Parts: sequence; structure tokens; C-alpha cells
Amino acid sequence: MRALFFCLALMGAGLSAPSAAAQKVELSVDASRAGAKIDRQIFGQFAEHLGKGVYEGVWVGPGSSIPNTRGIRNDVVAALRAIKVPNVRWPGGCFADEYHWRKGVGPRRPETLNPNWGGVVEPNTFGTHEFMDFIEQIGAEAYLSVNVGSGTPQEAAEWLEYLTAAQPTALAAERAANGRPAPYRIAYLGIGNESWDCGGNMTPDYYVSQLKIYSRFVRNYNPAQQDGGQRMLKVAVGPGGGEPRFDEWTEAVMKAYQKRQWSWDVDGLSLHNYTVVNWEKKFASVGFGEAEYGQILKATLEMENLISKHSAIMDRYDPQKKVALVVDEWGAWYAPLPGSNPGFLVQQNSLRDAVLAALNLNIFARHAERVRMANIAQMVNVLQAMILTDREKMVLTPTYYVFKMYVPFQDATFVPVTFDAGTYTHGDVTLPRVDAIAARDASGRLWLAVTNLDPNRPAEVEASLTGVAAASASGETLTAPKVDSVNTFDAPNTVVPKPVAAKVQNGKLTLKLEPKSVTVISVGQ
Ligand code: AHR
Repeated sequence: MRALFFCLALMGAGLSAPSAAAQKVELSVDASRAGAKIDRQIFGQFAEHLGKGVYEGVWVGPGSSIPNTRGIRNDVVAALRAIKVPNVRWPGGCFADEYHWRKGVGPRRPETLNPNWGGVVEPNTFGTHEFMDFIEQIGAEAYLSVNVGSGTPQEAAEWLEYLTAAQPTALAAERAANGRPAPYRIAYLGIGNESWDCGGNMTPDYYVSQLKIYSRFVRNYNPAQQDGGQRMLKVAVGPGGGEPRFDEWTEAVMKAYQKRQWSWDVDGLSLHNYTVVNWEKKFASVGFGEAEYGQILKATLEMENLISKHSAIMDRYDPQKKVALVVDEWGAWYAPLPGSNPGFLVQQNSLRDAVLAALNLNIFARHAERVRMANIAQMVNVLQAMILTDREKMVLTPTYYVFKMYVPFQDATFVPVTFDAGTYTHGDVTLPRVDAIAARDASGRLWLAVTNLDPNRPAEVEASLTGVAAASASGETLTAPKVDSVNTFDAPNTVVPKPVAAKVQNGKLTLKLEPKSVTVISVGQ
């Protein structure tokens, strides 16, 4: 009885049962072989007018009893500031190709419909100025998606003039009259969204012809963004999964890029890839076991193949890697929570999602030369969210904590890690037991992120460190009692990072990874 109690107590504390023998994992980190910069923009977010992603999740209105600044909830802003969100993609998604910006500026905001997401009324109270206020409050860059599907180049061009013109044009004057005399900074512009599907079901050639027109005429007039690193970067619609038709799509856009003339250009190609095992019968986001844990992680590792495949196509037309691969929709897509509006894409977020997020961020980091931006779908209350809200309540998800732990990797220099961690098998699913990345930050400090995918066995890591003077190490680990452990409004601290012991001696770092955990270690001199 006492032994059983001890076992349960360990499990309750998120620790492994003593019977699961730790696996030895040898890593080798050579900090002298620095790679590409891990662009901080890969930690971007996506906020679509979908369910409670914007309304309630971000916008409660100035008259709300929920503490807010000009209608934007303060708790959400503070949480997003803490993970240093680099950019937010808005207003969609499929929504973007039916969005008409004029309905969201000025004192009169007509109610419209949101046919993609539940057919609900779109009040347009959160429009251009509210979005720009929001991203300024969280200290992020704006990534706007312009309407190619049901809009016109003129409408998009006028939106950008409204946002960015400094000269006294009628549109700039209207912006000033609406409360913003100074031009806004728009760092990224998405030209359409999934134009092969919800964005208008276009053929690659038809889309390319649209791309050229929008790229030419949708101008950024902000005097501070006319050249150099400040220039607005344009992102073309790219592939949306592993089907062969998407290879053709990437070929078509990249071929056009290679043959482009002075009059148009693109800086990025978007890639969308959700982690779903079966679209017809989506997995549940809670109440699952080890089998579904393994299947989802196996599915998410497909991201590696997809990026490699499309990077190889891009390399043929752009060997200098001028065009970034922008993974601007990624994450787990599960069945809607029972009782929720199915059009609102509400799901819980578990420890499994934390592991999934770390694996994807690691893949992006390993492809840092080409993958220079990414946006998890979505930021609040939708799909694999950072934050869940219920009116005045807010809870931070396990995925949020991975983004927080990975902040030191923002703009750090990739450092190669080699390891043979063996495998973890459950049923017909076999996964690498451990995944790891390393990077050096601007101060020269080495950071190591190690994920133990095995939900049953701890791992004893021994990492040999070369090219860095290592004297001490400290870090945090994220784990929980079960693969489907979640944070709730009533129990918000089930899956939160905790300090972890790590030791450095004679150039070797040792640490123990709990099963199903994400750990980030900082190595100091
Ligand atoms: O993120 C939800 C939807 O998924 C987006 O609106 C669309 O671009 C994608 O299909």
C-alpha cells in the first residue's frame, strides 16, 4: 500500500515511476560551428476573425469590465509581451479573402457576416486601427493578409496607402481623422491566403498573374520603410500540404520569381501545414492516451519532409535563398470541444501540444537558412492556442510555455547538435526518443533545448560541449503527470515550467530529462 502511494505521489508530481529505467543519450554540441540565425520571426502568431480568437480573446471593447486599454484586454497583452511575440498575422486565414477593410475603420462599423467560421455576425469593431494598436501594445510587427479572393488590387492598394502614406493624401487625412496622424509600419504583407482553396480555388498560373499585379501595386509609402531591412516584405501563397498539386504550386511561383522583372517581387513563400491524423475523424484534444500521443507526434514530424521537399524546389529557382519559406499556419487541429460551436475551432491544449510545438520549432531552427518566419495557428482561443479565455478568465497553455522557454532562441545563432537517441515505439508508431537543438545568443551564451518524446522513460543526457567555455548550467523543464494533462481556469498550473538540475564538468553537461518533457538549458562561463 505504501509503495503504491509512493508511486502515485511521484506520478502526481509529474515524475516518472522508479521502474522506468533512464535511457542514456549522448549529445555532441560544437559551438565553434555556428550556422544561420534563427530568425525571431519563426515565433510569430496568427489571429484570425474566427470564433473567440479576436472578439473576447483580444478585443473586449473600451466599455468592458475586463481590464483593457482602448478595448484590448490587458491580461492577454501582458502574456504576449512576456513571450516576445515578433509578428502577428491578421485578419486571416480564409477570413482575409472576404475582408473589406473600409468596414473596419471610422466611426460607422457596419455589421457583416463571417461565412467561413460559423456564419456569425462580424461587428467590425476590431478593424485596422484596433489591430495596429494591439500589435503596438504587444511590441510586435504587423503581418497583414490582403484580400485577393474577393477584393481588388485597388482595394488592397488603398488599404496600404491609408496605413502608410505620410503625404497629405485623402486617405492619409482620413487615417489622421480616425486618430492616427503618423503612418503605420507594416513589416509583412501576405498576398492572398490558400488561393488554391478557400482563397478562390485558383490554378497556379492564375494565382501567379494575381501575385504580380498585387505585388506591383500594393505599395508601402511609409518613409521609414523605403529600403534596407525596414522594407515591407511580401509573402506569396505557397503550398498547403504534401499533395503533388502543391509541388506544382511551388514550382509555378518560384519559376515566376526566377523570371521576374523589375516591376514586381516577392520575399517569401507561405507554407501551411496542420498536424491532423484524419481530417474526417479528428483526434480529441483531451482524454486521449499513449496511442494518440504517438500518432500525433509522428504526424507532426512530417513537417520536416514537407519543408525539405519545398526547400529543394525553391533551391532550384533561388539558390541564394533570397525567398524565405514562411510557415504561416502550423499547429495541431483537433475535434472541436463538445458543446462548442464547431465553426469556432475550440480545442484544449495539452502536454502533447507542448512537445509538438517544440518539435516544430526545432525543425524550423534546423532549416533556419530558408525558414525565416512562421505563425502558429492560432494565438488565442482557436486551434493550438497560446492563451484560452472565458470572459474575464484567462489561462496560459502548455504551448505558451514552450514559446516562453524558447525566447532565448529568438535571433540566436544555430549551433549543430549531433545525437543518436534511439527510438521510442508504441504499437506501429516509432519515434526518435529525443530531439535537440542548440544556439548561441548575442552575448555568446549557449542554449540547448532537449525534448524527451518517450512518455514512459526518463533520459540521462550527457552532452559534450566544444567551442564554448562551459562552467555552469541551469534551466527549466516542462512536463506533467499525463500526456493529456492540461491547464484549466480552475487549475492553471498543471503544466508549467519548473527548474531542472544540470551539471557541467570537464566540458560535459549532464542532466536528466523526465518522460514527455521539453527542457531548455543555458550554459554559462
Ligand atoms: O486556421 C484556420 C484556417 O485554416 C485558416 O483560415 C485557413 O487559412 C486554413 O485552412
